Amino acid sequence: MVVLGLMQLAANGADLLTNIPARKVTSLNGKWQYIIDIYETGFYDYRYKERAENDPEAYWNTDVPAHSLDRKEHGYNDTYTLNVPGDWNSQADKFLYYEGTVWYKKSFDYQKSSKSNKLYLHFGAVSYRADVYINGKKLGMHKGSFSPFNFEITDSLLKEKDNFLVVKVDNRRYANEIPTLNTDWWNYGGIIRDVSLVELPNTFISNYFVQLAKPNVATNLIRGWIDVKNAALDDEVTIEIPELKITKKLRLNSEGRAIINFNAPKLIKWSLTNPKLYQVNITTASDKISEKIGFRNIEVQGEKILLNGESVFLRGISVHAEIPEEGRRAHTQKDAEKLLGWARELGCNMVRLAHYPHDEKMTRLADSLGLLVWSEIPVYWTIDFKSEEVLSKAKTQLDEMIDRDKNRASIIIWSVGNETPVSEVRTRFMKSLLDEARKMDPTRLVSAALEVNYHSEENMRWIDDPLGEYVDIVSFNQYLGWYGGTPESCRTANWGTHYKKPLFISETGAEAVGGYHAKTNQLWSEEFQEWFYKEQVAMLKRMPSNFVGISPWLLADFRSPRRNNPVYQQGWNNKGLYDQQGRKKKAFYVLKAYYDELSKTK
Ligand code: GCU
Repeated sequence: MVVLGLMQLAANGADLLTNIPARKVTSLNGKWQYIIDIYETGFYDYRYKERAENDPEAYWNTDVPAHSLDRKEHGYNDTYTLNVPGDWNSQADKFLYYEGTVWYKKSFDYQKSSKSNKLYLHFGAVSYRADVYINGKKLGMHKGSFSPFNFEITDSLLKEKDNFLVVKVDNRRYANEIPTLNTDWWNYGGIIRDVSLVELPNTFISNYFVQLAKPNVATNLIRGWIDVKNAALDDEVTIEIPELKITKKLRLNSEGRAIINFNAPKLIKWSLTNPKLYQVNITTASDKISEKIGFRNIEVQGEKILLNGESVFLRGISVHAEIPEEGRRAHTQKDAEKLLGWARELGCNMVRLAHYPHDEKMTRLADSLGLLVWSEIPVYWTIDFKSEEVLSKAKTQLDEMIDRDKNRASIIIWSVGNETPVSEVRTRFMKSLLDEARKMDPTRLVSAALEVNYHSEENMRWIDDPLGEYVDIVSFNQYLGWYGGTPESCRTANWGTHYKKPLFISETGAEAVGGYHAKTNQLWSEEFQEWFYKEQVAMLKRMPSNFVGISPWLLADFRSPRRNNPVYQQGWNNKGLYDQQGRKKKAFYVLKAYYDELSKTK
């Protein structure tokens, strides 16, 4: 029996804790003090040698002078504060383009409710590298701007009063990181998602995977595993779904894992029209945790995507994790409600969360709303594909994405990248990510947004990227009429693929400045974008029978340092159907009409 997924150690060996919102949490959100450190003075001495842990001039050590002659050339005070969570770029003009290190500091008091309990420090995401210290001691380091991580704060490090928590955040870009130097989005830096202290009993439920097995295995078979930390062999763990009157008592193996494998004959499957979520309770002698989980099947059968056995057409839209009116990273519940609300207004049943895992609030909300989700890691454009080290970084981010969201019914597709240039070494790199995704989670589909590689045969454009061999869904980005040709070019273009698989258009789009009105053949006008979408929609109506959906680029205008037309862009990519003020552009109504028509037929 294939056990679903493997536990993946997060950075520094601290297993990623699942379902933080359901835990005993003390939030460290709020104002943190900061030091901008573009020369890395807090980390290197004047000879650029890494400072020793007890170096009084290190920025992780106290800034309070021991006496009147104690010279301190660093310090934290309320003159310099940043809101956490939140990118720094949108909080003050001096940060807008800043790339480098900012030291964040937060003091807090903490008394554990029981001496034997454990205390973890959990970050929803820090962009890009985080070095975390408490009371002058290093807790650990994490890389990756969009995935959660946590470190244990042991008793030897924790004080009841005035814990000196310092996080060195460095958002500089490097060729050998994920993403690499060049992306079409803003390099937001900072502690961009929630920070929590999580208190747990000594023996605690650390992680679990509870999903429906694929229908070719059995119907209504709930499978997975539960991990309990610091437990003994044969300790008992109970999983119950009260609404289904299911209670299963399981035994832990020597690794502290219990295998879930039971039928739920009366189960109502999660669906788009009825996103049914069940309360799942997991308890041990010393710990308990609950979560709302939806159970559904997703599979590819021939050239169709089947949701609960029925063919589904994906009326999607691509979404960046940004709030356009404020030019900032999205991270609150209200942000999630806004973005997914806009997608629903558009008539979508699916969102492509590009090009990286969004805040967990987005995928949890998608579960409740009944929206399908494409979730992606930022293996974007020209990654250093020949490097084993870079592959390992990509796998870590893939594992962290899957580990965090593996119980989300809304997520049906894990994507391992976007528009990576075809080469042997790249296809090997990407295939090994696809294999890793399937190993971590055999219940979902895997894909990647391919660049529009095709060969022409008669009047067909055949998508033939070699990676198509290994994905479940052949997904490609085409911008016919924007990058190449004009919107008329859509009238004679026909797409297909010789891979006998579902064909999905993961991107198409054109820019328009919100509120700029001109003739249809005036680039950058709303009328041009509207015309572009009309021609695209007419072309989509000629797609072959294996066409399973589209997620146009994109929901809302977003910042990009690559977009420097001084009149029409000024550092923004305006392909949104919502503009920088959150207003609908004319093209919105073209796509909405197409989706409304589809919703009646597909
Ligand atoms: C690419 C890419 C997007 C980018 C878009 C564009 O396909 O995937 O990240 O923003 O095209 O050029 O606007």
